[in-house]
Amino acid sequence: MIKNICCIGAGYVGGPTMAVIAQKCPHIKVTVVDLNQDRIDAWNDESLENLPIYEPGLDEVVKEARGRNLFFSTEVDKAIDEAEMIFISVNTPTKTYGVGKGMAADLKYIELCARQIARVAKTDKIVVEKSTLPVRTAQAIKDILDHTGNGVNFQILSNPEFLAEGTAMEDLFAPDRVLIGGDITPEGEKAIKQLFDIYSNWVPKDKILTTNVWSSELSKLTANAFLAQRVSSINAMSELCEKTGADVNEVARAIGMDSRIGSKFLKASVGFGGSCFQKDILNLVYIAQSYGLKEVADYWEQVIIMNDHQKRRFAKNIISTLYNTVSGKKIAFLGWAFKKDTNDTRESAAIYVADDLISERALVSVFDPKVEKKQIFFDLNYLESRTNEENELYMKVENSPYDAIKDSHAIAVLTEWDEFKNYDWKKIYDSMLKPAFVFDGRNLLNKKELEEIGFVYQTIGS
Ligand code: NAD
Ligand code: UDX
Repeated sequence: MIKNICCIGAGYVGGPTMAVIAQKCPHIKVTVVDLNQDRIDAWNDESLENLPIYEPGLDEVVKEARGRNLFFSTEVDKAIDEAEMIFISVNTPTKTYGVGKGMAADLKYIELCARQIARVAKTDKIVVEKSTLPVRTAQAIKDILDHTGNGVNFQILSNPEFLAEGTAMEDLFAPDRVLIGGDITPEGEKAIKQLFDIYSNWVPKDKILTTNVWSSELSKLTANAFLAQRVSSINAMSELCEKTGADVNEVARAIGMDSRIGSKFLKASVGFGGSCFQKDILNLVYIAQSYGLKEVADYWEQVIIMNDHQKRRFAKNIISTLYNTVSGKKIAFLGWAFKKDTNDTRESAAIYVADDLISERALVSVFDPKVEKKQIFFDLNYLESRTNEENELYMKVENSPYDAIKDSHAIAVLTEWDEFKNYDWKKIYDSMLKPAFVFDGRNLLNKKELEEIGFVYQTIGS
């Protein structure tokens, strides 16, 4: 039975998943390691107020398990040495250089982990791929471990994570399924069983699926591609709705009640963001291309093309509605995170909409309940559309929504934070220039209420 687990990578996946394993399995010592000292310090923050990620309910679980059987550390070698099972949960971003630039997954962090495990391990280990990886990565990890290790036996399992940010804790407590892929050999099956036994401490056995390694690796990319494709599909219909007088919310409801289609993931929006969808689909497209499957690659790439279009047309609509010029006009952004209930901003639509508006010399004023000012500037500066100094001239970040909105020409809702619905919209209206516009990129606010106050209110898809 496994008594010691190590997880390499203390990020949005490593942190919450290991916190839940530690909470549900008090008999297992779980050590989460990372190279980033600041991140580890934040995980160890006494007050729990400065955990590196915001996720509802996470602080309680960390509070219960930390120091008992959950530890955060930068001593990677020590944790690898002590563990019988090692989860790799490091980032796998899109490559920004060389062959496959802009599409393929950058596996350098994964390879570094494999080499470190090979160097340090003195006893047999089960290595679990928790990161999302291109299909057949387990082969590369195995090659490295078997050829550079100290002669110890390694089993590689694929155990992709399906949690979504903002709902990570509920997703981990009651997952739709847990997927474990392993070798179809007696040793592989034994390793699968050991991971199965960990999850079965709280997940019903019939929800724990086992497959071969390649199916497991590919299922994760497939799941994200299908989910993102639903968002792009409804977003494509939203533009047609705007032209025809149909209402995308009504269309989504009508099709969602068909049990073959289902009602989830049909919310039209300013476009999907997040660290996963775009990178995983680009990775899938790259894999298909590398097998010479042009039609397969083109088919999935269209999901990204549609999403880029949706972000761009939201900005364009703001410009054309504000009489074809936003130069010198203050536009208030409600929300910067890629969805509600997270402080994560990776690939958030807000970044691209701000960039387009600032290129038209708008003055963007941002409020987000959980995202820090330095992160907002980092995101915009990262695009390198102009100098950092120019970005500081055109963008401001405020600590209060009312300050962000005061004297603005328009409000753009970029994230569906619940609190936005409860603001004093009359007070907001009075503080704005007239006509006062609201561009609701999340179809979040109450159209009737806002129009009665006097706002010109525009949504996606109606
Ligand atoms: P993240 O960037 O938040 O965390 C990754 C961490 O790994 C970082 O803190 C980094 O410092 C650390 N790291 C990198 N190389 C290291 C090394 N050699 N040794 C020690 N630490 C190292 O990333 P994330 O969002 O947690 O994603 C991790 C993986 O999980 C990715 O493959 C991602 O696709 C996948 N995933 C993410 C989500 C999500 O919602 N964020 C959901 C499912 C799957
Ligand atoms: C996603 C997958 O859902 C999760 O299973 C996987 O493990 C990681 O990637 P995440 O990116 O955290 O999770 O959030 P998700 O809820 O999928 O939302 C992604 C983006 O799509 C967000 O920007 C969200 O606002 C947008 N979205 C989602 C819509 O615009 N409409 C919808 O109906 C659903």
